[in-house]
Amino acid sequence: MSSKVFKLIDKEKVRQVTGLEMIPSENYVSEDVLKALGSILTNKYSEGFPHARYYGGNEVIDEIEIYAQDLANKLFGTKFACVQPYSGSPANFAATMAVCNPGDVVMGLALSSGGHLTHGANLSFSSIFYKAVNYTVGKDWQINFAELEALAKKHKPKMIWVGTTAYPFKLDYSKFRKIADLVGAWLVADISHISGLIVGGVHPSPVKYVDLITTTTHKTLRGPRGAMILVTERGYKKDPEIKGKIEKAIIPGLQGGPHNHQTAAIAVALEEASKPVFKKYAEQVAKNAAVLAKELGTVSENHLILLSLNDYGFGMGYQAQAALEAAGITVNKNTIPGEPVSPFYPSGIRLGTPALTSRGMKEKEMIKIAGWIKEALEEIRGYDLPKEQEARKEFIKKVKAKMKENPKLKKIRKEISKFASKYPVPGIK
Ligand SMILES: Cc1ncc(COP(=O)(O)O)c(C=O)c1O
Repeated sequence: MSSKVFKLIDKEKVRQVTGLEMIPSENYVSEDVLKALGSILTNKYSEGFPHARYYGGNEVIDEIEIYAQDLANKLFGTKFACVQPYSGSPANFAATMAVCNPGDVVMGLALSSGGHLTHGANLSFSSIFYKAVNYTVGKDWQINFAELEALAKKHKPKMIWVGTTAYPFKLDYSKFRKIADLVGAWLVADISHISGLIVGGVHPSPVKYVDLITTTTHKTLRGPRGAMILVTERGYKKDPEIKGKIEKAIIPGLQGGPHNHQTAAIAVALEEASKPVFKKYAEQVAKNAAVLAKELGTVSENHLILLSLNDYGFGMGYQAQAALEAAGITVNKNTIPGEPVSPFYPSGIRLGTPALTSRGMKEKEMIKIAGWIKEALEEIRGYDLPKEQEARKEFIKKVKAKMKENPKLKKIRKEISKFASKYPVPGIK
């Protein structure tokens, strides 16, 4: 193990063990998932699908892929599972390609309201090749269904996304279904963030209401980086040819050979998610998020918290991310609904509990961590973002350096290193 890479991996291990990982889209996979992901299955080419490959030697790969598909269908209650998307964004591109022609109208929640890039954001394929129409959240930060209905009636979308990436509330899929039915649109749930919560029964399942589901496998589901496209009974009724259309969108549409090591690791993660202990995990993720949110003066109905920092000053997201990082807490800066500054210098942070919960932390630990977060955030007061755009880049550079040298943050960093090291990270010995 002489490669420089292994030394760097060891360095990253230290970061993962001694810090508090609170980016809500991240998690720690099990040792078995890591084993499958690092296996010799990466050596094989398997373009195509089980029993219909362009290459020979795929008997075992077929078995693995079919096994992963079966596990996914059983776990989510769907009729078909495509487990080949390389990741969430290509899965969403393939799902869109399967049901839309270029130029068709696709609706999704705006990025600034907690939606994902692939649901119709500027510069994404979803607005370059399709006509994107975005719905938003209201002043209460919840989806504005009146606006969604009016936009759907006006623009007659071919497809409506229901899925979020920075939204702390539960989703009522029945409301989306009613609106999709008014205009005959495909309703597609992107459950990337909440798939683990759905499996654990902590968030309602979209299966009864939507036609297709996409999900990443590496967030609350605790699998390797990857994704799946699932077809519900409704989806098949809407178009009995949908399976073939999804497969065609994957290859030759978008991808080449599947990542078989990734498929195998997804299967291992799905096996793990099928066990009763996973339900307990998902329940704890949500309990932890609710407690953490309360301590920070807000609410969470799922696994994540969106925190406005307007009480600390103007445009404080970057500064907060830097202060928390210096203290050993990893979060990400995030826009808040009605963002007063800009997507690059947003006014909030997004944080969550999936990874901490995988280390066995519970409510008691959340209260302790909330205390550190509040202490660290006090250190950003007075560092308001300059109003002049040109001054911002340099200002942030200086703030980062200041936070690294801040004695209070250094002290918290030490406390956190000691605290975090007591909670084992799955997959790291
Ligand atoms: C809702 C949602 N969909 C899709 C994706 C894209 O996944 P990936 O980063 O694997 O492309 C994300 C990632 O954050 C997401 O939150």
